[in-house]
Amino acid sequence: MSYNLSLEACHHLKPLIPLSNSYAFSHYSHAKIFKSQPTFITRNSKKDTIIPAPNESRNLPSNLYLLEKIFNKAIIKFLDHPPHLPVDPCNTLTDNFAPVDELSPTKCEVVYGSLPSCLDGVYIRNGPNPQFISSGPQHYLDGDGMVHSIRISQGCATFFSRYIKTNKYLFENHVKSSIVPNFIGGMKGLGPFVTRATLFCARIVLGKYDISKGIGVANTNLALIGGSRYALYESDLPYALKVEDNGDVITLHQHDFKGKLFMNMTAHPKIDPKTKEVFAFRYWATYPYITYFRFDANGNKQTDVPIFSMKEPSLTHDLAITQKYAIICDIQLGAHPMNLIRRGSLVSFDKMKVPRIGVLPRYAKDESEIKWFEVPGLNILHVANAWDETDEYGSEVLVLVAPNVGNEEVNSIGSIM
Ligand SMILES: [Fe+2]
Repeated sequence: MSYNLSLEACHHLKPLIPLSNSYAFSHYSHAKIFKSQPTFITRNSKKDTIIPAPNESRNLPSNLYLLEKIFNKAIIKFLDHPPHLPVDPCNTLTDNFAPVDELSPTKCEVVYGSLPSCLDGVYIRNGPNPQFISSGPQHYLDGDGMVHSIRISQGCATFFSRYIKTNKYLFENHVKSSIVPNFIGGMKGLGPFVTRATLFCARIVLGKYDISKGIGVANTNLALIGGSRYALYESDLPYALKVEDNGDVITLHQHDFKGKLFMNMTAHPKIDPKTKEVFAFRYWATYPYITYFRFDANGNKQTDVPIFSMKEPSLTHDLAITQKYAIICDIQLGAHPMNLIRRGSLVSFDKMKVPRIGVLPRYAKDESEIKWFEVPGLNILHVANAWDETDEYGSEVLVLVAPNVGNEEVNSIGSIM
């Protein structure tokens, strides 16, 4: 009997990777696991990527660069709120969460037991791992995406760590500094936000950063769409990845699905294991706040379905799918530009809003058939499962399994950003 191993994990999983009851590998325990010392490769190695490096000259630490440094120091000293734990790199990027470097193929020692020779495949996970730690606020989830993979074959295991070569990663690698404002850590406070955004916009206007290629970090999840593998981040387009036969992971390019995917998409699309279709959405801070869409089995993106009945922005992070329906959550956390002025924070918790669940036929071409259900106190960030049932009276029942993030926790998430 032979097994084909192809597992993926996202940012929510800890880096300990249980393969069975008998085997476990962790790259955070080099001393015990690796026979040989890991070999680190330089971060500007170009052989890993097919994406060209930015045009900007390395010698640019020019006036603009110096000006940026001065302004950044001033922002930190005079504008930033006093550092608090969730966005203080001294707190968030230490111990088990300290950044690690890329790792070229490294043979692993099996500490006990043995790997069945029939086990043949690759386990891949994605998560944040900052290339540079900024001097200002930085949340753990602001880190550049890094994939860790373990190739298991013929009783042997080989481990890799590779950055996803996003536009942001390549640019910052080129200038050897953290330039792009942190999306989560940097959103607190109108003054620091506007000042950092203005500085960054100056770089864009001067042609030093190509914003059309995105500022995302591709650090949240991995997904198969139309048989191709992508690294996802909900504020950016997906990055296409290639997994080599030896288990190494190469970034191919940012992908907009023939121009049909606009701006961004959720990092938690749902794949129908039978039809291979993929269901997703994007949220944005302006109307329409949610747009639902799907991909066919070949990865062709289908028409957008804007959800105009979503009247306020909602930080909707996940959706659920049944055989008949798509389930969309409208929660009390929202990102609205006016929040910056009103509350000094882009993301806020609206205690007056009643959360809702929207049920839409999954092949809907518009939102005319969506039904909204008020669910006071139910704020869903991730869903576990959903399915259709029929009760004893023949009525249709929709079952949704999802952890409810309590008011206190949702409120604390809002206070971070
Ligand atoms: Fe998530």
